[in-house]
Amino acid sequence: MKNIVVLASGRGSNLQAIINAIKEKKINAKISLVLSDKKEANALKIASENNIKSKFIDPSFFASREGYDIYIAELIKKENPDLVVLAGYMRILTDKFIDSFEGKLINIHPSLIPAFQGLKAQKKAVEYGAKFSGCTVHFVTKELDNGPIIIQAVVPVLPEDTEKELSERILFYEHKIYPQAIKWILEDRVIIEGRKVVIKNAKYGTLPVNPALEDF
Ligand code: GRF
Repeated sequence: MKNIVVLASGRGSNLQAIINAIKEKKINAKISLVLSDKKEANALKIASENNIKSKFIDPSFFASREGYDIYIAELIKKENPDLVVLAGYMRILTDKFIDSFEGKLINIHPSLIPAFQGLKAQKKAVEYGAKFSGCTVHFVTKELDNGPIIIQAVVPVLPEDTEKELSERILFYEHKIYPQAIKWILEDRVIIEGRKVVIKNAKYGTLPVNPALEDF
């Protein structure tokens, strides 16, 4: 069975969506480890509630980001994962870490990248006056929130939207496109050609999610 490692720093709603997809047998895989850099992360609680091995690795024990990433890379490699999933992981990864999981490391970002990269993407979209925003699942490269795009969902931004309202509208789709992308990758349907990612036999040209959702 394919194996996933999840890195999370916070609430863990995307982790929960992935767990649900596995429980519903939409994704044929297991999560063997959830790692967090935050002791209080709700994601750790979700992992233990679901009998998934989880670890808090305290960054303050390490002298450098490099040292921290080398340590967690070793922990992850021991799991021999098919996929490493960043689900609200708030630490910037070192180049070496990214290199060692190239093509197997994915992230979800709450905007239509390349718009509004970095922190507080939903707030930036509201303040910018964007009329559409959304979310993106992408492979992780050394450029922050800018790797090859696997799937995106678009949502409207309304005149009275607050950051919170837009975040909720986007999150609804995060919980669909992330498990969908994971399923496609683990089924070996994802081809990376430089910056371009193509999903074999997917339906392209659809709204609000492109390529179209199949299972979520
Ligand atoms: C999500 O908005 C995700 O797009 C971003 O961080 C947030 C994580 O939320 N990368 P959760 O911890 O999965 O609930």
